[in-house]
Amino acid sequence: MTILVTGGAGFIGGNFVLDWLAAHDETVVNLDALTYAGNLETLQSIQHDARHVFVHGSIGDRALLEKLLAEHQPRAVINFAAESHVDRSIHGPADFIETNIVGTFNLLESVRAYWSGLDSERKQAFRFLHVSTDEVYGTLSPEDPPFAETNRYEPNSPYSASKAASDHLVRAWHHTYGLPVLTTNCSNNYGPYHFPEKLIPLVILNALAGKPLPIYGDGQQVRDWLYVKDHCSAIRRVLEAGKLGETYNVGGWNEKANLEVVKTICAILDELKPRADGASYAAQITFVQDRPGHDRRYAIDARKLERELGWKPAETFDSGIRKTVEWYLANQQWVDNVASGHYRDWVDQHYGQPA
Ligand code: NAD
Ligand code: DAU
Repeated sequence: MTILVTGGAGFIGGNFVLDWLAAHDETVVNLDALTYAGNLETLQSIQHDARHVFVHGSIGDRALLEKLLAEHQPRAVINFAAESHVDRSIHGPADFIETNIVGTFNLLESVRAYWSGLDSERKQAFRFLHVSTDEVYGTLSPEDPPFAETNRYEPNSPYSASKAASDHLVRAWHHTYGLPVLTTNCSNNYGPYHFPEKLIPLVILNALAGKPLPIYGDGQQVRDWLYVKDHCSAIRRVLEAGKLGETYNVGGWNEKANLEVVKTICAILDELKPRADGASYAAQITFVQDRPGHDRRYAIDARKLERELGWKPAETFDSGIRKTVEWYLANQQWVDNVASGHYRDWVDQHYGQPA
């Protein structure tokens, strides 16, 4: 048996592939375009593992997809491949339209052609799992209940609009063509192998390098944080037992304001790797210009996934963030390699000064 994972050299996809092979003997074909966010170093521990077949290519390449699907005959496709960073989508939305919308369309069409040709038993067992985000639901005020699966879509950034569009395509391919799809909408992930353009790894790395810790606006925007291994276990559970055509919200029940997250990271670093001058890393906190259209609050109601499929996160924010900081301290080589090249160009362009 084989599964096809797309975007498996990125943050969540990479963690998913590593966790999958730690628990299963089932082969993973991993299709990734290796954009700036794709990193084969994340997959170094499985580079000689016969159960992992890495393919450098795009979900937009129908000829390649046709060949891969025919050759490997996967029982499931899990789509992580995307442009994922909100700030980049504001600077340059075109890649988000191309990958997240047109790419998902091409993937759906290739998978539909493959699935249509399967015998009835394999056709019935086949699954297409689309990994999406809570950002499609828009923003909440402090008194609003968390996002449920029944909330209407109100995406506010080019990124979330492109993800919303891809979710709609996936839904339509189920209702119109009967493709057996599942969709997960998850909150903010954090953990090992997270690219340091996102808040948590950026803050850890900047703190250690003695650089400013940039807080957008007043730092009171709220996100729900989920340890990435919990997201991976949720996806495995939905793949195993999710009801066809359904969407499942995935969250950590960990609503935190950004400033609180950054102060927590500073406190852990103060304990594990104190600054030479004895001051707290919190002294490096710097308020910078806000993100345009910045969503104020996300919160996820993950009760459907718990009620119907028995999934719950294993980590609290306290346990997960400590593990994450420890991971970055212990994996300097991964950090050094990732924090070079294109990453530097991004930091210069976005923050207006060298990282
Ligand atoms: P990421 O940016 O770290 O990784 C994306 C991966 O997709 C990279 O390896 C990249 O090379 C690959 N990719 C990009 N375009 C491709 C293409 N055309 N064909 C094949 N591969 C391509 O993203 P992530 O944080 O790991 O997110 C993975 C998925 O989960 C995305 O769909 C994202 O929208 C969703 N998501 C992310 C979060 C989060 O907090 N990071 C939360 C909820 C949902
Ligand atoms: O909610 C799920 C989403 O979470 C995913 O769909 C996205 O792919 C993922 O990137 C993430 O989006 P966010 O925009 O919430 O994540 P980011 O790490 O970029 O920012 C988290 C919060 O921190 C957000 O309110 C913006 C703020 N921030 C971010 C950066 C990079 C800062 O204050 N300073 C910063 O330098």
